[in-house]
Amino acid sequence: MQLENLKAEVLAAIAGADTLSDLDAVRVGVLGKNGSLTALMKGLSALTLEEKKRVGGELNLVKQALTEALDAKKQALEDKELAAKLNQEKIDITLPVRPKTHGRIHPVAHVMEEMMAIYAAMGFDVAEGPDIEDDWHNFEALNIPPSHPARQMQDTFYIKETPYMLRTQTSGVQIRVMEAQKPPVKIVAPGRCYRVDSDATHSPAFNQVEGLYVDKGVTLAHLKSVLEESLKLFFETDDLVVRFRTSYFPFTEPSYEFDVGGKLARDIGKEWIELGGCGMVDPKVLENCGIDPNVYQGFAFGYGLDRCAMLKYAIPDIRSFFEGDVRWIRHYGFMPEDVPNSVTGLSLNGGTKR
Ligand code: DAH
Repeated sequence: MQLENLKAEVLAAIAGADTLSDLDAVRVGVLGKNGSLTALMKGLSALTLEEKKRVGGELNLVKQALTEALDAKKQALEDKELAAKLNQEKIDITLPVRPKTHGRIHPVAHVMEEMMAIYAAMGFDVAEGPDIEDDWHNFEALNIPPSHPARQMQDTFYIKETPYMLRTQTSGVQIRVMEAQKPPVKIVAPGRCYRVDSDATHSPAFNQVEGLYVDKGVTLAHLKSVLEESLKLFFETDDLVVRFRTSYFPFTEPSYEFDVGGKLARDIGKEWIELGGCGMVDPKVLENCGIDPNVYQGFAFGYGLDRCAMLKYAIPDIRSFFEGDVRWIRHYGFMPEDVPNSVTGLSLNGGTKR
């Protein structure tokens, strides 16, 4: 009778256990060292052999039943716990993915890469010089002595009480290259330049590309064809002509400013668009770099990369290039995988094909 009650009580407790630790407490209370059933088992020793057999048999049956009930409940609780855990960690694959934030390539960086690919295909190397330049490279060696009026043409940011300045033009890279390397020299030098100047078409910081080709027998015809071909590729049109207008630069003789005509100009209601300067390298400049002007001739050119980006991508104000406005870069910037048409058509081992 007592045993039946105990069994019923324990089975009820097992059924009522909600957690594994509750269930374990029930188990210890019955089958543990000081458990109720264990106590009854210990009591067997006081009985006669006959009774031991009978009572012992009954106790074992109850123990077996309770153990089975405990195991089954344990399994059920473990299953429940696992199901709850899985439910909590569930990933809802029907949710929309989080939008990825991509950086953008600045239009000037993009245009610079594009131009470099075009000139590389024409056999030009890419050269670089420092943004902080000395008087020799920015002016003196380019045939612009201290008293020269051309110095006033370029409003220079000087670095106080030093012979250094922020370079006003990439032309100084010509000097650096010719000082280091003997002809043939065939380079382009893109980079940032600085002048005290600011309006919709002038920024205190801007980007130029410089070109230089020095060898025996270089002529104006080479200059004109290199400019025209590279700009046709860049602006992706054959309807493009380059016009030279006589001008003056201290480091070239003769000197020209050059304009672009054709579709590009017509599209913005103009006949010609002014783009840059160029000419045949002045013999004095070659001499300054230890190159004999009686043996070698060269052409040089320089023009604005920002200007090219504005024209190609219809960007109205040059100052916006340098404002660091995220909305602007999202609109005008490029994805890293955007390769311009002009570059996809180039074969980089010499010739260009269109
Ligand atoms: N450095 C000139 C400027 O910033 C542009 C230029 C003109 C570069 C004639 C040249 C050149 O190489 O030959 O206005």
